[in-house]
Amino acid sequence: MSGGSQRRDGAGPARDALEEWAEERYAHEDELLSELRAEMERLDFPLIQVPARTGLLLHVLLRAVGARRVIEVGTLGGYSAIWMGRALPADGRLLTLEKEPKHAALARSFLARAGLEGVVEVREGPASQLLPALESGAWDVVFLDADKEGYPDYLAEASRLLRPGGLLLADNAYLHGRVLSWTPDDRAAVEVDRFHTLLASSPDFTATVVPTGDGVAIGVRS
Ligand code: SAH
Ligand code: DHB
Ligand code: MG
Repeated sequence: MSGGSQRRDGAGPARDALEEWAEERYAHEDELLSELRAEMERLDFPLIQVPARTGLLLHVLLRAVGARRVIEVGTLGGYSAIWMGRALPADGRLLTLEKEPKHAALARSFLARAGLEGVVEVREGPASQLLPALESGAWDVVFLDADKEGYPDYLAEASRLLRPGGLLLADNAYLHGRVLSWTPDDRAAVEVDRFHTLLASSPDFTATVVPTGDGVAIGVRS
């Protein structure tokens, strides 16, 4: 079972059953990915990695746009990074940003075991400091999955970083249902809702949300 089986999106039993069906039909993890989840559990990491079907969605989308240069914001143990790294050509590159050294270390060890050490670089530090140093217009995909309070700022950075036709992807677009109703003290919900308003009205993107896992926002850069 993946992290996505802890259903807290408030979407009800019919959608839950369909999500489970999709996971069973399509989203098969290999042993390395299930071992990574077990190791995260053993080390008391937060079990907030994407569910397998979201990992698979990322993989399919990277292949669809022929991605060669990808940025991930929020590595955790490298679970989504392995799904994405496996979608890249041998000379492709995934740069994944992580502020917790302990998370970065586990990710590096599993990425090496996945044979992706030449493709994926885990860079340590706060995303707000690392993103501005990256080259404008040079990236095919930017995947957001770190602190939800930062999503509006990360959106602005993604707009600068992506090439025309590049993809912005963002996990937790539904914020476990909290986008439907929030109070002003729920900063994550306030900022994710603001992120959606900005993305949906931005001339830089044509965007939508797909209801996989906790919702994934997808925007194509103009
Ligand atoms: N993408 C991962 C899950 C990421 S969980 C997967 O699906 O496997 C969110 C991660 O973002 C955590 O590891 C957390 O430490 C990191 N994070 C939170 N705020 C951050 C920030 N400001 N800069 C960089 N990383 C951050
Ligand atoms: C949670 C889930 C996520 O996918 C994430 O990126 C951050 C937090 C959560 O369930 O709390
Ligand atoms: Mg997430």
